[in-house]
Amino acid sequence: MNMNRRAFLKTTGAGLMASAFPLSLVKIAFGGQAPAQDFTFGYISDAHLQQIQGNEFVRNWDMGLIRAVREANLLTPRPDFFMFGGDLAQLGKKEELDHGLEIMSNLRGKVHYVIGEHDYYLDLGEYWQSKIGPLWYSFDHKGVHFVTLNSILTYDSWIHKKWPSPMDRMLAMARLDNPNGSPFMVGEEQLTWLKKDLEKVNRSTPVVLFSHSPIQKIFKPWNFWTEDAERVQALLKPFEKATVIYGHVHQIEYNQIGNITFHAVMATAWPWPYPESYSQTASCLPKLTVPMNRADPFFERDATGWQFIDVRKGKVGMHYQLPDNKNRSVLFNSKAGKPQDVNYQDYGSRIPPQTHY
Ligand SMILES: [Fe+2]
Ligand SMILES: [Fe+2]
Repeated sequence: MNMNRRAFLKTTGAGLMASAFPLSLVKIAFGGQAPAQDFTFGYISDAHLQQIQGNEFVRNWDMGLIRAVREANLLTPRPDFFMFGGDLAQLGKKEELDHGLEIMSNLRGKVHYVIGEHDYYLDLGEYWQSKIGPLWYSFDHKGVHFVTLNSILTYDSWIHKKWPSPMDRMLAMARLDNPNGSPFMVGEEQLTWLKKDLEKVNRSTPVVLFSHSPIQKIFKPWNFWTEDAERVQALLKPFEKATVIYGHVHQIEYNQIGNITFHAVMATAWPWPYPESYSQTASCLPKLTVPMNRADPFFERDATGWQFIDVRKGKVGMHYQLPDNKNRSVLFNSKAGKPQDVNYQDYGSRIPPQTHY
């Protein structure tokens, strides 16, 4: 599939063509094998809009989201819908969420939202629910079952401990490496709901699950982690085609665990470095079943950008548009049974990992 952004954009400005597109386009393709029809959806994530004072917001984060929305509006053919992957706000404030929704209101098309920890831990999702809707839900679209989870819950004892103020709780969860944070989890209530929800779905129907944190355990000190990930994975196990797409990590990640393919989407705000290359902290990475070839975190905009995402025969393929690096395509290799970087998966062609000091 020779997709490039020119094929998807109606544009008049050459400057725009040269820019980075901070959103993802997802294509669901069935390759003629299923009765369902192909379609696309867009994905924008991790905007982190931060209020400075009054109407003043951090401009760089604003611009990331504004640009994503503008460029999403140029996509052709029109995606069937858009996903927003969480962390719309930086500190969960009404002003930040309102500001984010105002920018998002310029996006032409239906948007489904995933909540992130930065949206949640000030008022525990109250304002989000009043303005946007439920924190977890599912929907069907053209033969695919989509599930959205709130994966950033944590232990009640942590949420309700004696915080000096709700903002102190928010700040404790907002920092990447805060030792006073708490591991993310989906929790019993949602697991029960998910089990019921998936019981109604035919085992051959492609299932795409959206979460904010990865439903796999990557790096606990930074909460690239979901405590009860295995329990969600177990519920997805009966399905022939299961994919988890998540935000939060602000970088390219892909993996395969059993029948489940994992992909991260990029942020519009900033990239995080890769835990594996962070030499100060002992690596807690699980054994990755697919060695990853990744973008360079030292280019500020490298790990921000957008992707085309296909779901070919129910399997997701990601097309990353990287302004400071060569573009990447991570497609499902059905022979190998896992996602692979089309051009850079082989050891000889990889970009070596960087060491941070
Ligand atoms: Fe984020
Ligand atoms: Fe996050």
